Amino acid sequence: MSKDTVTIVGAGVIGGSYAAWYAAKGYQVRIYDARDNYESAVREHLRTCISEIPSSNVDEAMERVSCFTTLEEAVQGADLVQESGPETVDFKQTMFADLEKLCGSETLLASSSSGITPEVIGAKNVYIGAVWADSSGYPDCRPAFYEAMNGAVRTGTKDESGIVVKAPFVNLKKKDLVLMGKSLGVPFERTWSCYRDGEKACGRCDSCALRRKAFAEAGVPDPLPYEVRPAF
Ligand SMILES: NC(=O)c1ccc[n+]([C@@H]2O[C@H](COP(=O)([O-])OP(=O)(O)OC[C@H]3O[C@@H](n4cnc5c(N)ncnc54)[C@H](O)[C@@H]3O)[C@@H](O)[C@H]2O)c1
Repeated sequence: MSKDTVTIVGAGVIGGSYAAWYAAKGYQVRIYDARDNYESAVREHLRTCISEIPSSNVDEAMERVSCFTTLEEAVQGADLVQESGPETVDFKQTMFADLEKLCGSETLLASSSSGITPEVIGAKNVYIGAVWADSSGYPDCRPAFYEAMNGAVRTGTKDESGIVVKAPFVNLKKKDLVLMGKSLGVPFERTWSCYRDGEKACGRCDSCALRRKAFAEAGVPDPLPYEVRPAF
């Protein structure tokens, strides 16, 4: 991403995590939250979060964080606005109407949401990170499922809704995803694929096996400690 200023609207659980990550990765971070006097609590929370991000410099990262008391100030110069406020349709619709007025057309507007349907908020695209390689255990990871789902969405929504479910990774091999993650600087040591909830990944379950095979094929070292590393 060549953008360099990110505005976070709503610095709670998710917004705070975004803010910490972007600040640690060198972006200028501008925050707006509706709470009174929120700055000191958010700064303290961010310091804790950033200190857990490998190779981050907390003091330097915190210098890139600014907190504002109005939305208008917070979005100045933003390349990306990540809305992470309350999960209500009213809030999201009002906030995005405001953001569209305040931001230029070059600003990317993104929303954190858990369960609001796209039709309700007028969204056009729904993205899912399914990969075909997982389809032996999860048949809904096959491209045919998304073709069928898009047929159902077209039939089940108003003609003008134009909603499309997109699965951009579905035809990629897992090794390609590892290489993509490497090029983006993904901290693989903080990722988890094992089906079990242990101190270490088990190394035996299907998910561990697929992961280890993908890293091996990509020629990228998998930094996770495993209980066992059976040969394939
Ligand atoms: N917490 C999760 O695990 C999770 C996961 C996926 C998606 N989400 C979605 O992310 C969004 C945020 O969730 P959260 O868990 O961070 O909630 P949260 O309650 O921790 O944070 C919401 C923040 O928004 C602020 N806020 C309230 N009204 C505002 C306004 N008008 N303008 C600006 N800020 C305002 C609040 O003060 C609070 O700091 C929700 O839509 C949620 O469904 C959350």
